[in-house]
Amino acid sequence: MPQEQNLPALFNDDGDDFIIIAHRGASASYPENTMIAFRKAVEMNAEMIELDVALSKDGIPVVFHDKRLNKHTNGRGQLSNFTLDELKKLDAGSWFAPQFSDQTIPTLREVLAFASGTIALNIEIKSEAVSDSIVDGIEKKVVQLVQEFDMQNHVLFSSFNYRALIRFKELAPKIPAALLYSKTQSNRLLPHQLVERYNVEAFNCHYHQLSRKWMANLNEYQIPTFIYTVNSKRRMQKLIEAGVNGIFTDKPDLLRNVVKQYQSKAR
Ligand code: G3P
Ligand code: MG
Repeated sequence: MPQEQNLPALFNDDGDDFIIIAHRGASASYPENTMIAFRKAVEMNAEMIELDVALSKDGIPVVFHDKRLNKHTNGRGQLSNFTLDELKKLDAGSWFAPQFSDQTIPTLREVLAFASGTIALNIEIKSEAVSDSIVDGIEKKVVQLVQEFDMQNHVLFSSFNYRALIRFKELAPKIPAALLYSKTQSNRLLPHQLVERYNVEAFNCHYHQLSRKWMANLNEYQIPTFIYTVNSKRRMQKLIEAGVNGIFTDKPDLLRNVVKQYQSKAR
């Protein structure tokens, strides 16, 4: 079970050892990384929500995927050049559909207040701090917020930036973390070698990256594995059958239905 493997405890565990993860919320039907996408993911019975975190110009952790604001808001330019007050004036929903014009970029604080006691979170750090000399402090701010909301047993940290993972583990060794596979930082190491080297609890990668060799390696070392971003039923089925521990999807309602079929077969 996830808890025994030191994975986040789920608030709405459906009893199997597979986690339905809503990628940026229920982002196929609602604007990604917004409060409505997160609320709808809970309604669709996702067991975890994945979200991306970056810092505003004035150092506040906010929930947003891209470096630039252009595609998913009515703002222009780099998110890191805007203060929280400025970011909060932007419309983060109309790009998806006009009825979502009231959606704004959430702060991590807002999302934690919503999730606390309700749903586990995968907090992915979008940090540019690839060199040791650049420390933007995002990890410390995120850890402090998670602790403030008493969510340390219900979050999974992750990053493509392995320096960020090292800093997380220094700050909060007991909070589970996942390494997001990055070819440029991985030195051709196998998944179990990477997990060991960075002292993390899980290995996450894109479904195109997951070879038979990797799956065998992950199964052999019993490393929890979460795969992004899967929106087709057939691919969901294949990955569940291969033994992955969770799937990131923009369609948590579809994945919930796929999982239900396996659960009724198992009974
Ligand atoms: O953490 C899984 C997935 O979110 C990683 O890619 O670009 O969607 O943040 P991306
Ligand atoms: Mg992400």
